[in-house]
Amino acid sequence: PAAADEASPLAGLRYGAAVRDVPLAVEPEFRAAIARHCRQIVGEGGLKWYDIRPTREQFVFDAPDKHMAFATANGMTLRGHTLVWYGAMPDWTKAIASASDAERLLVGHIETVMGRYRGRIKSWDVINEAIPDDPTSRSDIRPSIWQQRLGEAHFALALRTAARVDPEAQLVINEYDIEFVGDRYRRRREALLRLIRDLKLRNVPLHGVGLQGHLRGDLAIDREGVAAFTAECRAMGLAVLVTELDVIDDKLPGPPEVRDILVAAKAYEFLDAVRAGSPIDSILTWGITDRHTWVPTYFKRTDGLPNRPLPFDAAYRVKPLARVIAHVL
Ligand code: XIL
Repeated sequence: PAAADEASPLAGLRYGAAVRDVPLAVEPEFRAAIARHCRQIVGEGGLKWYDIRPTREQFVFDAPDKHMAFATANGMTLRGHTLVWYGAMPDWTKAIASASDAERLLVGHIETVMGRYRGRIKSWDVINEAIPDDPTSRSDIRPSIWQQRLGEAHFALALRTAARVDPEAQLVINEYDIEFVGDRYRRRREALLRLIRDLKLRNVPLHGVGLQGHLRGDLAIDREGVAAFTAECRAMGLAVLVTELDVIDDKLPGPPEVRDILVAAKAYEFLDAVRAGSPIDSILTWGITDRHTWVPTYFKRTDGLPNRPLPFDAAYRVKPLARVIAHVL
């Protein structure tokens, strides 16, 4: 049900957004928009290995501490992103030479980072992007230092450690590019399901699956594929979250008033397939305003017009995408 507030259709719903440190520090409009529309936030960075562990000995908690303070001051919760990811690894981790060193580091990292926010970060992307871009088999796992040194057992190790450190936390496996039509995306869904089934069969603590939802405006959504995937996850007892929603609009027609509708429609197709009759646990967008988004860094338009991937425009005016999210929640 959409909220009554016209200018904030999302206020009070299970909606949240990723926050970026510079606007959070210096732009009052950004802080106000997050506080007004969101019930939860997540750092676009801050908890990633290269942010929090520039060296082996050092933990830098400044950014996540600020996110936590902002969330608490505004009655919101903070999600944790992320503990096990092939990406955003500081260079020094390349020197992890043995299985025992890898195990010690991973376990210690989770104890220290999760431990600091125990009882306060209630939902964690423990595992991020475990599946290769283009898997060749169902058992394909993306290369990482953890996979290299510990094999697939590192996922169970991370999840068991996480459950021990904070037994109340929701432990999530988060993945991208599982929603489009085509063989590659079907293979990605199958590989992810294989991994999830395997973890559940062995009673490894895992409570949710996160669909990042970086939707490509020009790719068709595989509605049946997505609905079957989320149905199977729910049948295994998992919550389904949308964790990083935005619509990548570099290949969509130029006029903003047209593009905003196509962006919203794409998100509706996706979200409607994700829920498939059951509520979505929560929906977070990767940023809140078109003014601050990672999209142009990787998917800049060639016509010189700004990207418009998010629920509020650069002047913080509500867009059709915000209404779609409100409707689905
Ligand atoms: C991106 C951030 O938005 C950028 O600011 C950063 O430089 C790189 O990472 N999937 C993820 C996120 O899980 O962590 C990524 O965030 C976007 C894709």
